[in-house]
Amino acid sequence: MDIKEKDSRYIANTYARFPITLKEGKGSLVYDDKGAQYIDLGTGIAVNTFGYCDSLWVAAVTNQLNALQHSSNLYYSEPCVRLAELLCERTGMEKVFFSNSGAEANECAIKVARKYAAEKKGSDCYKIVTLKNSFHGRTITTLAATGQDVFHKDFLPLTEGFIYCEANNSQQLRKIAETENIAAIMFECVQGEGGVLPLDQEFINTIFEISENYGILTIADEVQTGNGRTGELYSYMHYGVKPDIVSTAKGLAGGLPLGATMLGERVKDVLTPSSHGSTFGGNPVACAGALNILSRIDQKLLSQVREKSNYIIEKLSAAKGVKSVSGMGLMLGIETEKDASEVISQCQKQGVLVIKAKNKVRLLPALNIPFDLLEKAVNVIIDALE
Ligand SMILES: Cc1ncc(COP(=O)(O)O)c(C=O)c1O
Repeated sequence: MDIKEKDSRYIANTYARFPITLKEGKGSLVYDDKGAQYIDLGTGIAVNTFGYCDSLWVAAVTNQLNALQHSSNLYYSEPCVRLAELLCERTGMEKVFFSNSGAEANECAIKVARKYAAEKKGSDCYKIVTLKNSFHGRTITTLAATGQDVFHKDFLPLTEGFIYCEANNSQQLRKIAETENIAAIMFECVQGEGGVLPLDQEFINTIFEISENYGILTIADEVQTGNGRTGELYSYMHYGVKPDIVSTAKGLAGGLPLGATMLGERVKDVLTPSSHGSTFGGNPVACAGALNILSRIDQKLLSQVREKSNYIIEKLSAAKGVKSVSGMGLMLGIETEKDASEVISQCQKQGVLVIKAKNKVRLLPALNIPFDLLEKAVNVIIDALE
């Protein structure tokens, strides 16, 4: 049996994989098992922040791997403390809880919001408003938070207490806040899996105005948008607001599993001994990787992300076969006249990897993708659109 046959024989059937077996990579180039080269604009779904096997990141991770691979949270450990300090310094948040994935980072955010609201307002204040078309993860509770029925249908009943508001509908959000007992509002500034759709400034303003007026917590899900992806360190920073809770994962450790739930002033002391925990959370190897990544996402890199973004938007908006381009920074969605899957498959044949979000072609290149590779890849996409 070859890899594809063994995959379908032994791996649970949850993924519709592309017909490519990736073997090795360096920077924004990746090679399959037959030696074919691809320019990667998907980065393992916004995970490989500096591409494949970036030398500085590999050195940081292997140094830690040679020193101590895991210690559990029964002992103090330097990499996770240094990472928490850096995250707090860069965001103005106060404390961090580490986990291993986006879903877990959101699960923690939800637990913090419920505990805070129960202590402040009583145990019947537990509802969380999330947005229609959002995506927050695949555990039973983060599925419940996800405002898309298509993900819910086989797993009912889900955790109760989520109310779904239409994105960018301030009037509906105000009505919910007036009539329901709300603990928190949770949102992605750019809905990623929902089709790369940024929220309006006016709607974000309404979320924070309601938060202020009703003492409702704000939770920014920065799992996909975080860690430089949108051209700011975290996407909420584009909007001039400061959430109470920020969850992130994906690109944080540059290719290793790590989730972080950052807690602001109002909620920094909500978690108490044994109220939450994780065996692997804050793993020293993942944290060493994240320290390397985060310390390199500086203003210079962020402005390069914005420049590359402007280049892609300009080129693709003017291309034949493009209906629209949405998103921010290096998180972009292209609405195409042709079926998106056809465009993706055509790009693969021409040596460029792009992925899908709803009916769009989604681009999530490495933040440091060299300009010549980006230019080459964009030209391949343009050819595939016709
Ligand atoms: C915004 C958002 N939140 C949460 C998740 C879930 O993250 P994970 O797959 O690491 O659990 C994702 C994954 O795509 C995401 O895009």
